[in-house]
Amino acid sequence: MTSPSMDLAGKHILLGLSGGIACYKSAELVRQLIQAGATVQVVMTAAAEAFITPVTLQALSNRPVYTSQWDAREANNMPHINLSREASAVLVAPASADFMARLAQGRADDLLSLLCLARPIERCPLLLAPAMNREMWAHPATQRNAAQLRADGATLLGPDAGDQACGEVGDGRMLEPEALVEELIAFFQPKRLAGKRVLITAGPTFEAIDPVRGISNRSSGKMGFALARAAREAGAEVTLVAGPVALATPRGVTRIDVQSAQQMHDAALPAAPMNDVFIATAAVADWRPAEALEHKIKKDGSGRPPAIEMVENPDILAAVSRLPKPPFCVGFAAESQNVSENARAKLQRKGVPLIVGNLGPATFGRDDNTLLLVDALGQREIPTGGKLALARELVREIAERLT
Ligand code: C5P
Repeated sequence: MTSPSMDLAGKHILLGLSGGIACYKSAELVRQLIQAGATVQVVMTAAAEAFITPVTLQALSNRPVYTSQWDAREANNMPHINLSREASAVLVAPASADFMARLAQGRADDLLSLLCLARPIERCPLLLAPAMNREMWAHPATQRNAAQLRADGATLLGPDAGDQACGEVGDGRMLEPEALVEELIAFFQPKRLAGKRVLITAGPTFEAIDPVRGISNRSSGKMGFALARAAREAGAEVTLVAGPVALATPRGVTRIDVQSAQQMHDAALPAAPMNDVFIATAAVADWRPAEALEHKIKKDGSGRPPAIEMVENPDILAAVSRLPKPPFCVGFAAESQNVSENARAKLQRKGVPLIVGNLGPATFGRDDNTLLLVDALGQREIPTGGKLALARELVREIAERLT
């Protein structure tokens, strides 16, 4: 979505592998964690070694792998203490049904379970990525263990649903490495919007002329999608109403796909009163053809182009801000010049507390942007950066205004 980030810079991840075929994904996970800036210390159970060798994981993590609680390389012979004191977090991926059962019971009969038990709970969080056959995951014993582990403070990432190595289909797949990295990055973000609900519109709209033609614009939706991800990372429950774009839905975000401005309006308006924040990043078409023709318009040989009558679309942002109890409304102003003046004029016209100005042609489709925040008190520029970094900064500004 955005350019490669170093969102895990400075984080030391203790990656535990327990036994399961998903161990093959853990090799790629190590690479992606390192690409995101983390250092990775791998610890494996004996069962994990049946699926993938420590040689592979040592080569990828550039650190010797630990497999035994009796590892004499440690001067004090206490790898379970030393390893857990260094880690920013313990991530067990894959977490097998058996490993979860042992953790839930507080057992400590191998290095990985031992260090999970020995870690300082308040400063070394435990994240688990379950991976197992769907019947094993659905079994009441596993569900009971999962609930117990959550109650004990662990965070469960997944499992995913889909094809399983055993040939069955259902819940129990380990999340893909990319998804685990996204979840880990989100985990470390401050929870400034915890308990809040955020509604976002994003992307262009498409206004049909006939079954094959229409009017749209060059918005890529990247800024709105980055905001949806940043708001979710900050702990919010996020609904994203998206025009026609080819972007992956950020993890944990509810997405409603629409085409036209009217559809975007009809999706956003009823949802708005249930939300604390509404961010209108969509580049909504101001006008649409008065009627979308049933059949393709043909050239009639006269040389004259068809006259297409246009009507105005509803203004979604203005309609939401006029609700009896509106959410905190944030509008975007994509301008081609005079960003500051135009954004301030929009603040009045739309009746919203915050407008974010940017230069449309300079940012459409790109991964970076510059934002100018304009409100009743003044203005502040968020300097050029990646859209996700800008989105996190904007989320911080919004969260401050909510309190
Ligand atoms: O009216 P204008 O397009 O200049 O304002 C831009 C802001 O208003 C953006 O936040 C955009 O998402 C929102 N908007 C809207 N519905 C429209 C037109 C714009 O929500 N019909």
